[in-house]
Amino acid sequence: MLFVFGTRPEAIKLAPLILALGETSDLVPIVVVTAQHRQMLDQVLEFFRIDPDHDLDVHRPGRSLSAIAASTLDRLDPVIEQLVPDMLVVQGDTTSTLAGALAGFHRRVPVTHVEAGLRSFDRAAPFPEEVNRRAVSQLADLHLAPTPTSAANLAAEGICGEDVVCTGNLVIDALDRAIATAQPPEDHRLADLAADPRRLLLVTVHRRESWGAPLRSVGRALGRLARERSDLVVVLPLHLNPLVREAIAPEVAGLANVLVVPPLAYGSFAWLIDRADLVLTDSGGIQEEAPSRGTPVLVLRETTERPEAVTAGTARLVGTDEDRIVDAVTGLLDHEDQYLAMARAVNPFGDGNAAARSVAAIRWRFGTGSRPEEFAPSR
Ligand code: UD1
Ligand code: UDP
Repeated sequence: MLFVFGTRPEAIKLAPLILALGETSDLVPIVVVTAQHRQMLDQVLEFFRIDPDHDLDVHRPGRSLSAIAASTLDRLDPVIEQLVPDMLVVQGDTTSTLAGALAGFHRRVPVTHVEAGLRSFDRAAPFPEEVNRRAVSQLADLHLAPTPTSAANLAAEGICGEDVVCTGNLVIDALDRAIATAQPPEDHRLADLAADPRRLLLVTVHRRESWGAPLRSVGRALGRLARERSDLVVVLPLHLNPLVREAIAPEVAGLANVLVVPPLAYGSFAWLIDRADLVLTDSGGIQEEAPSRGTPVLVLRETTERPEAVTAGTARLVGTDEDRIVDAVTGLLDHEDQYLAMARAVNPFGDGNAAARSVAAIRWRFGTGSRPEEFAPSR
């Protein structure tokens, strides 16, 4: 079983499956990292104690998506040719995902797509992920859909029956592990928030379609909120992409109640999700994680491929407009009824058993086990 991945979220979401397979006697996970991300990937590998078998080392600062894809294809092909795996596993919708699936397809290795079937129905948002995930659906043989909604999206495209198993999202398995071992962050300014009475706003941004003016607008909203409200502390773990930092950091510079920090180890970030009163994010994974800790999410995007949390009422789309963000945050913090309605801890994305279902689905695909019972959210 060859796992191919390259970015932080892929590593977080594949880790529980890799660790579960490592405990079986019949399936052997072999880990190939493209290293599309470097430091942010290595942080996760260290957290889960996963030691890659092959490192394609494609990371170069500021590299284009085509260069990442080309380098991955070029370096992955000889690994596949040498190992002749029975299956290649990719996750999600990044450039590493697409290149990994294509490399497997070229060598006629059956491809399993983890987190299959997410759709925003907008080719431009998220860019390029929506088109990546549609393309991977064409390349894959086994589709592990996280929710009934994503399985239905695949069925609408004619991908259904034996090729699709609804497993729940592995991110909940990952988060459960992280919460179980979570320690306060090493940075004492963050650790001290445990006993700080101020409301905590946890913020992350990185999406390509928001680079430039939309990110500056998010930054202005954070600056305004921080200046206007002394009952608030904003924690902003900044993505390592310099374009993200350049857009947002100047808008919050010099504000004592905005803590701009580097990407955090997964355990520390999980601790913060748990402590936070509100999460503002354009991240896919965090939209899935926060509802399971009862933390409301304001999504800094116009569309989402994760409508489950919006439907369940734990997430709201607010986009990147400054006034809209300020109004949404203020409304929630000042109206307890609205806040509590969103904070109801429901988890539409998984139940922590996605790894076990995924292992069973793979065995079933190999003809060595029965089809697993599928994930069904409790509401
Ligand atoms: C990528 C994925 C996106 C995913 C995100 C998770 C694609 C098209 N995009 O976006 O789907 O949501 O990762 O974070 O695959 N950098 C570093 N060190 C790191 C990571 C990034 O220096 O460890 C900097 C580099 O300058 C790099 C830039 O960030 O060029 C952008 O990284 P890249 O992998 O191209 O895309 P992301 O925007 O991170
Ligand atoms: N995360 C982390 N440290 C951070 C910020 C995020 O470990 O400082 C985790 C977060 O809990 C989630 C994942 O990284 O599981 C999300 O990654 P990202 O937002 O980069 O990508 P996306 O989910 O949008 O693809």
